[in-house]
Amino acid sequence: MKAGQLFARSIDILKAYQASTGAFPAAPDYPPYNYFWLRDGTFIAHALDLVGEREAAGGFYRFGARTIIAHGYKVERAVAAVTRGQPIDDTNCLHTRYTLTGEEGREPWGNFQLDGYGTFLWGLAAHLRAGGPWEDVYWRAVKLVVRYLTGLWQHPCLDCWEEYGEYRHPSTLAAIYGGLKAILPWLEDEGRRTGCHDDGREPKGEQYPGRLALKVEDVLEKLPELARREFIRDDHWVKFAGQDAVDANLLWLGVPFGLCSLDDPVFAATVARIEDELCAGGVKRYAADTYYGGGQWLLLTAWLAWYYRLQGEGDRARELLVWVEARADTNGYLPEQVPENLTSEAHYQYWLERWGPIAKPLLWSHAMYIIAVKGMEV
Ligand code: BGC
Repeated sequence: MKAGQLFARSIDILKAYQASTGAFPAAPDYPPYNYFWLRDGTFIAHALDLVGEREAAGGFYRFGARTIIAHGYKVERAVAAVTRGQPIDDTNCLHTRYTLTGEEGREPWGNFQLDGYGTFLWGLAAHLRAGGPWEDVYWRAVKLVVRYLTGLWQHPCLDCWEEYGEYRHPSTLAAIYGGLKAILPWLEDEGRRTGCHDDGREPKGEQYPGRLALKVEDVLEKLPELARREFIRDDHWVKFAGQDAVDANLLWLGVPFGLCSLDDPVFAATVARIEDELCAGGVKRYAADTYYGGGQWLLLTAWLAWYYRLQGEGDRARELLVWVEARADTNGYLPEQVPENLTSEAHYQYWLERWGPIAKPLLWSHAMYIIAVKGMEV
């Protein structure tokens, strides 16, 4: 499909599948993904913000905020569990995905993933900066998420691919960092506004914005140092501590979450490894991936293009986007991944039999395509 066509079609697809609640299903025609994920949903809403679809994006953020508030009673449970050294499980964590009406899912999948909550804060801040109106529902959700992330950020959890829950992950830390940093100005504003009681004393509650702002500043100071210490090996970032492999989600450290500057030599060396080890036309998640055989992901290919656009390397960006465009079907639908350059043919067959053909359309693929074409600013 030609570039202009796929761009317009992608916007239509995202809007067409938005539920009346404001939620976006990850992949409407693929039953296992007929849920709303904070991670996918935020990038979808961000893509719509970039093309001026403020109402649709606002509908998503309001729905996300209401869903967080509805399950917000878990935040104090989670913080208490971490403080007492007790495990985090489905009963005390905020889940990674919800039904399109905001209930927790019932599948036996891991639910404890922190990156989506950081991503949500990052996207919401971008929405507000772009002119989205500040609403009370945001404020209530932001306080909960900030309390949650500042309490749990050092805890191992599933990564953004819903795997390896016993580890910490640099991409997750990057999303937490990017989200907390982006939302900090709103916490500071509220802190100043509500700075004193009538009698001049500072309010003491944990939910007091000034207090939350201090917690955020503390995490923003400690997190980059911890991440560098734990996840840099030789000259590059690694997927998780103790081994050498890269994951394409390490791109997030630079774009958009700003844990590294794009010119940082360690980040540049990491991108070079991603190019060498994971990119052959399109981009794989990581070399040992076997989900649907470990094919090439459209959203990651667009992500790499986004990085090159920001670096002023338009030709390479264009090449990657042409690869994505060529994988749209006649309806203009983009899948999650394509079974090219597979790591394991046997696993591809296994997943086909288990869950059917690869998810398509995957709305996050469309979102990342729009962002890469349009998103010249982080
Ligand atoms: C991916 C997640 C994604 C979900 C829905 C999973 O297979 O690993 O990153 O959020 O699909 O698209």
